[in-house]
Amino acid sequence: MNQLIPLPTSVQPADGVFLLTADTTIAANPATAEVTAIAELLAAHLRPATGYPLPVRPADGPPISGRLFSLALDPADSSLGDEGYTLHITPDTVRLTAHQPAGLFYGGQTLRQLLPPAIESATPQPGPWPLPAGMIRDTPRFVWRGLMLDVARHFFGVADVKRVIDLAAAYKLNRLHLHLADDQGWRIEIKSWPELARVGGQTAVTTADGRAWPGGYYTQADYAEIVAYAAARYVTVVPEIDMPGHTNAALAAYAELNADDQPRPPYTGIEVGFSSLAIDKEITYRFIDDVIGELAALTPGDYLHIGGDEALATDKADYVRFIERVAAIVAGHGKRVVGWEEIGQAHLSPTAVAQHWAPGHAAAAAAQGAKVILSPAPRVYLDMKYDEATPLGLVWAGKISVRTAYDWQPETQLPGVSEDSLLGVEAALWAETLTTIDDVEFMLFPRLPGVAELGWSAAGRDWEGYRPRLAAHGARWEAMGVNFHRTEEVDWE
Ligand code: ACM
Repeated sequence: MNQLIPLPTSVQPADGVFLLTADTTIAANPATAEVTAIAELLAAHLRPATGYPLPVRPADGPPISGRLFSLALDPADSSLGDEGYTLHITPDTVRLTAHQPAGLFYGGQTLRQLLPPAIESATPQPGPWPLPAGMIRDTPRFVWRGLMLDVARHFFGVADVKRVIDLAAAYKLNRLHLHLADDQGWRIEIKSWPELARVGGQTAVTTADGRAWPGGYYTQADYAEIVAYAAARYVTVVPEIDMPGHTNAALAAYAELNADDQPRPPYTGIEVGFSSLAIDKEITYRFIDDVIGELAALTPGDYLHIGGDEALATDKADYVRFIERVAAIVAGHGKRVVGWEEIGQAHLSPTAVAQHWAPGHAAAAAAQGAKVILSPAPRVYLDMKYDEATPLGLVWAGKISVRTAYDWQPETQLPGVSEDSLLGVEAALWAETLTTIDDVEFMLFPRLPGVAELGWSAAGRDWEGYRPRLAAHGARWEAMGVNFHRTEEVDWE
């Protein structure tokens, strides 16, 4: 029980173990579709390595023989909130209880970590499969525990995104922010503006050794598949269309989006700050209304991200006017607007969310009542190199060791932004130098679990306590086939 990440709110170990065996049955209580699906997902995680059938049964069905392993909703314990759970393990019973279904899902992730690392293997392993006895009560600190994946600089297909969702959800992250459009690529099919994906989707960043790299895009069916896969793991997809800058792919696809009506050539470099939508043209806002409208219809989550960063080719007054108008379009489609912290320069509604990364506008957003997500670049831009020897990544925000990503305090990160303005924490993975899922895993692991702990665990975090817990996860990642960085900061087991 001392190797869990994120650190639970309270852990009381007891004597003995519950042994998972070939006749363990998982009871769902009540056996609603949602609780049953969570139990099935947990069973599906445990079946390959154990080789056990682990059937899921309604708790109020025919009596279950053998020892009790149950997932139960407790309508009375509202102190667990939407995502908290309790896990009570004795030699005879495993009782996972939550107020809401998401808590059962998170308790299931904790159960996975309590089993030996070989549980993560895709093929049968010898066992045995003990769960240590004890009592855990666990609720998250922040409602927003995110990961941003840049699919614009290089495209990552549906299977890769599902892999990222699985790895993030295992550490109780609950937001996947997809950076769907940038200068180098447009990655989502928009039916009313088909050239965005057809033309804008073709390009990607040229590799450092000068090779053109293929683009790609999600059809709306692909996107819906990602959203559903994420939702089953209690991850909300937050789509981002970055604007008014970072828009060259759209400006290449449609001449009329440019102030001079000339289409821009495709761009495959990694400079920023040169593109801008035409702020004074009405067609710009019809375009945005169409794009946001289609994305909002495909996105059940409350949030829609409009970027707004590094609009260096847009003058300040135009920028402010643009953001205010686009924020109203987002609200008109029933979503809460999220933007990078530069949107704090505009007049914001208190339902807006500003994402801090560096430039210094987050306090202005918070002063207007907007909530703030913390993604400080020198801490959680996980595309930065670990150290000078890291073969992938950039260094413009610094080198980010495992300790640097973990060892900071959200509540004191931003002068002028008090704790009650904080919605949460989000790691970001920009993809200028990353082309494969192996690259993505190498940059995320082992840093991402530390950011997940910053988002989930209110107290008890310290680097010396974290290091040995993290070390124990290496064997899990090996069993999962995760391509993690075996940094010398951690004494891997
Ligand atoms: C950013 O890094 N431009 C949000």
